[in-house]
Amino acid sequence: MAMGRKLIAGNWKMNGLKTEGVVLARAVAERLASAGPIPVDLLVCPPATLIWPVTEAVAGTGLAVGGQDCHPQVSGAHTGDISAAMLAEAGCGYVIVGHSERRQNHGETDALIATKAAAAHAAGLVAIICVGETDAERDRGEAGTVVERQLAGSIPASATATNTVIAYEPVWAIGTGRTATPADVAQIHALIRETLVRRLDSGAAVRILYGGSVKPSNARELMAVPDVDGALVGGASLKADEFWGIVTSCP
Ligand code: 13P
Repeated sequence: MAMGRKLIAGNWKMNGLKTEGVVLARAVAERLASAGPIPVDLLVCPPATLIWPVTEAVAGTGLAVGGQDCHPQVSGAHTGDISAAMLAEAGCGYVIVGHSERRQNHGETDALIATKAAAAHAAGLVAIICVGETDAERDRGEAGTVVERQLAGSIPASATATNTVIAYEPVWAIGTGRTATPADVAQIHALIRETLVRRLDSGAAVRILYGGSVKPSNARELMAVPDVDGALVGGASLKADEFWGIVTSCP
């Protein structure tokens, strides 16, 4: 089990215009300031257009900011893409790569995700590498093999416990209100831990997040599962009170 602080990360996905994004980020930062020292690291990943205003709004508060994707190259003829160096310059410390919505909607492969994670590392960012099985894969009893295959292909050689976080997000639990049971989560997180320990010198210390319909009402039980080192939160990260309710559910 990774020792140390949990990471609660909000993935805002394609939500929010400037005013509401800045208000939301400030509201989270204010709760963090008034809470005093807590054993949790906090991150928000706004849409790309909001990264500058959000990093400016929360500068010096301890609330970290991340991107939702990056391109493997540093620069070049890649219309519509954003490089990891651009995210770092805008004030990001993290970037999500390989989210299932990118795997599904943009046909991203494990090999591409590994190059994105390596680009994030080269730019000094922490890569949050997402894995997780679909409903059909779980029904066929393939959840473990799918996750192992994704880990094998998506983690680059540059990965360490300081520059890499793994997020287990079963696709069927994302935005559906269906959460994996603590037993399901424990089983897959143990498998991820075993794989990380085999693969990386610092594998025992890599943080493993759970994501998929995490809310204040289920966070306490999920965050208490062994090898759950935090959460990657979608819908509930769009409301400061709900996001904060998840933060305060961490043991
Ligand atoms: P929900 O919390 O809305 O299910 O989304 C999870 C997710 O995809 C976070 O990356």
